Amino acid sequence: MKATSATQLCSCGYDGSPISAAKQIPSHKTSSPTHGVKHADPHMHVEPDEVNALAQLMTWKTAVADIPYGGAKGGIGCSPRDLSMSELERLTRVFTQKIHDLIGVNTDVPAPDMGTNAQTMAWILDEYSKFHGHSPAIVTGKPIDLGGSLGREAATGRGVVFATEALLAEYGKSIKDLKFAIQGFGNVGSWAARLIHERGGNVVAVSDITGAVKNPEGIDIPALLKHKEITGHLNNFSGGDAMDSNDLLTHECDVLLPCALGGVLNRENAGNVKAKFIIEAANHPTDPEADEILSKKGVVILPDIYANAGGVTVSYFEWVQNIQGFMWDEEKVNQELKRYMTRAFHNIKNMCQSHDCNLRMGAFTLGVNRVARATILRGWEA
Ligand SMILES: NC(=O)c1ccc[n+]([C@@H]2O[C@H](COP(=O)([O-])OP(=O)(O)OC[C@H]3O[C@@H](n4cnc5c(N)ncnc54)[C@H](O)[C@@H]3O)[C@@H](O)[C@H]2O)c1
Repeated sequence: MKATSATQLCSCGYDGSPISAAKQIPSHKTSSPTHGVKHADPHMHVEPDEVNALAQLMTWKTAVADIPYGGAKGGIGCSPRDLSMSELERLTRVFTQKIHDLIGVNTDVPAPDMGTNAQTMAWILDEYSKFHGHSPAIVTGKPIDLGGSLGREAATGRGVVFATEALLAEYGKSIKDLKFAIQGFGNVGSWAARLIHERGGNVVAVSDITGAVKNPEGIDIPALLKHKEITGHLNNFSGGDAMDSNDLLTHECDVLLPCALGGVLNRENAGNVKAKFIIEAANHPTDPEADEILSKKGVVILPDIYANAGGVTVSYFEWVQNIQGFMWDEEKVNQELKRYMTRAFHNIKNMCQSHDCNLRMGAFTLGVNRVARATILRGWEA
């Protein structure tokens, strides 16, 4: 039986090269899709090595979350902000024509990532269906009207917040007592900010590609969202002071959430990080040198393969609903997401205790062990 994987798509790179790459790695369960598609930012390239690394991360992530998917990644080299809707649609449809025979409801199920959204997934669904008939389960993260799941749009940010709550509880702390700095105010960062604010947390600094804002008393996140919606940027927000976005990662706070790009924490800035906790909401935001520096400083890092697994978890719920032809209400989606995220945290903690290691090593050990066990049980040669 062919493994199903979760593919996340991205389209990115400022060189304009029409790179599309996809890598698929099998799951820790016997029959399972892979996941991930992105149209990313001018700061990000879509290169085969990067895509392979992200596909690997997806594999361990789905194993850590204990959902029956493998891991895959694909993307298009472009800068979506510079394209019109019509150009984006044509690009996405042509991409789908090239990959429609490689993806499938039981082989590979694309989901949105950086620079892609529900509309992108709707175009992929429509184009795929021209070749294979109407197949809502072929993509996740699609609009609700086309079979998307309630709660999917917020899922990664909500999962980040459930993960943060589980971690803080281990230290006898809660969101409402702490100060947060958030890099990135897109899908993941804005939902995380909104939910932290709702729980009484103090979001003292936020940045995105357009600028950064700080307020030691706490930013009114609903007001900032409105400001961003109206103006398209974070500048000139009356509820805080402008700051240099390069200072966001070293801003005074208890909890830092990188929710934008990979590799942002490195040896240049790691020593100056003030946060006691880092929640890796973006994929691989901490490079290995920074990881070492931060560990020596005693900073607790919640690793990406767990912290941002809420998106793929609700993608799995969406796929299940499409296959069953039965839609869950949003409360059930959120409750199940909390159950999966909390269970995964305790599984990682158990690994850390039995192997005397940090959370990153605990998460990788959990994921790799699950894939290895499934591989051995199936009788595949290692
Ligand atoms: N969307 C998901 O479901 C999902 C799931 C898992 C992981 N992730 C990861 O989370 C991260 C963010 O994804 P997203 O879906 O929110 O993307 P997005 O495109 O919706 O938002 C990205 C945000 O990062 C900001 N940004 C870009 N460059 C920046 C810079 N130099 N400084 C500060 N901010 C900058 C952008 O302005 C934007 O606010 C990525 O690493 C992605 O791979 C996303």
